[in-house]
Amino acid sequence: LQSLPSVETDVIVVGSGIAGLYTAIEAGKDLNVLMITKNALLESNTRYAQGGIAAVTSEDDSPAYHREDTLMAGAGLCSSAAVDILVNEGPEGVKELIRLGTAFDEIDGELALTQEGAHSRRRILHANGDATGFEIVRALAAQVRGHERVKVWEHHFVIDVITTGNECVGALVQRPDGQRVYVKATATILCTGGAGQLYRYTTNPEVATADGIAIAYRAGAQIRDMEFLQFHPTALCYPGAPRFLISEAVRGEGAVLRNIKGERFMGKYHELLELAPRDIVARAILSEMEETKATFVYLDITHEPQDFIRRRFPTIYETCMNYGLDMATDWIPVAPAAHYMMGGVKTDLNGESSVARLFACGEVSSTGVHGANRLASNSLSEAIVFGRRIVNRIRALAPVVGSIDLSHQLEGRTGAPKQAIIERRLKLQKVMVRYAGLRRTGTMLRKGMEELQRQLPIFQSELTKKEEFEFANMLTSSMLVTRAALERTESRGAHYREDYPQRDDAVWRKHLLQRREDEMM
Ligand code: SIN
Repeated sequence: LQSLPSVETDVIVVGSGIAGLYTAIEAGKDLNVLMITKNALLESNTRYAQGGIAAVTSEDDSPAYHREDTLMAGAGLCSSAAVDILVNEGPEGVKELIRLGTAFDEIDGELALTQEGAHSRRRILHANGDATGFEIVRALAAQVRGHERVKVWEHHFVIDVITTGNECVGALVQRPDGQRVYVKATATILCTGGAGQLYRYTTNPEVATADGIAIAYRAGAQIRDMEFLQFHPTALCYPGAPRFLISEAVRGEGAVLRNIKGERFMGKYHELLELAPRDIVARAILSEMEETKATFVYLDITHEPQDFIRRRFPTIYETCMNYGLDMATDWIPVAPAAHYMMGGVKTDLNGESSVARLFACGEVSSTGVHGANRLASNSLSEAIVFGRRIVNRIRALAPVVGSIDLSHQLEGRTGAPKQAIIERRLKLQKVMVRYAGLRRTGTMLRKGMEELQRQLPIFQSELTKKEEFEFANMLTSSMLVTRAALERTESRGAHYREDYPQRDDAVWRKHLLQRREDEMM
């Protein structure tokens, strides 16, 4: 490893969703940036974001209302300082996105705003109806391509970050031809996105394998709140179709949920009906599915005329039509699916992890904004607001000095993994759905942990392919989720324990932190 080819830059950005693209552009104003992304530049979780981006832009709204809604959703575990930053700096973040070329939808020259669950005001900006994420990555990627200070390595995989003592000094990267290279940097920003692929049913694309969480864990960083994984209540559930997200904004525009008998049921579960917090809607759906012995419930927006639905939700409408479902006349079969990881790499208010010079931005991070449950559409705003703070902090860092000892990286691994990775991945995803899903018990979680532990020999094997590294990262992150879920013997936010159904503020109004000691995982 000592003799690896090496290159040097000021900032490494890992990942190319909103967090990666934005921090690269911001840092690229005066620093040299190397953006490393494991797929094509445009492929990320952000690309598929529909509902939009939450920020206060209208006169009948205020940061104080946005703050209150965010804290309420977070169920006692938000950092109020982080939430203050989000709600106060969010509006400027939106302006910045507009300056960078994002075209949000407007009505009569004003930004068009929609409603989503647990928001007390209409404050969600959207683009091209339901293609908000795509519009954002389109605009930001156009800035990044050809940027004179931002270099992009597509289809390159970051195996690990390199540390000396408690400091990150760069990253070990695998090129598409399998060659490895060491990149030395003043700062490394993990923008690797979420963890939806830990579950068999997810709204997230294939790339969401929780790489950044596992990388940071191996580097010795503190990982926080991993038991809080949000399930989106309404993903398309139709034979042959992917679990395509049906935005909460559809319910925001008045769609109702019905069980397979056609009964509207949310009245039994929460006064906010279909716009109750996500965890409540998701578990209500699960209960209805069980009671009616069905694998789905229906989402019904047939009260709206077809031209409104097509204009407001063009992507969702077309996708459903591909499966012969016309939202204007048909009820859409939906079920919950893994959607968003609230936990992740613990950061301070400047996005720095507990390892110096290692930063995390976006879904991979745990800034304290989301607590035990994220308010819809707060994630895109979080990435911009904290991205800017990260870059300001990096500007104050001196370059890394001295030679670097790489000998401790990836020691002691031999032989190829025995079982096919694709099978292992599927097995892990099923284990997580079954034992660490929307509803958990101690018995289920222990069983899940045992199943995951059987896969641990992967860490003694010599990994060479991207899929193998991804699987190892998924395994680490799944164990972090399961371990935390087992430890938290209460129900709060997105974490629900059937054996401990109450929220227990006396004991559990606190975070669970995990940090690598010596175990291989
Ligand atoms: C949605 O459109 O329902 C997803 C929005 C989000 O998860 O923030």
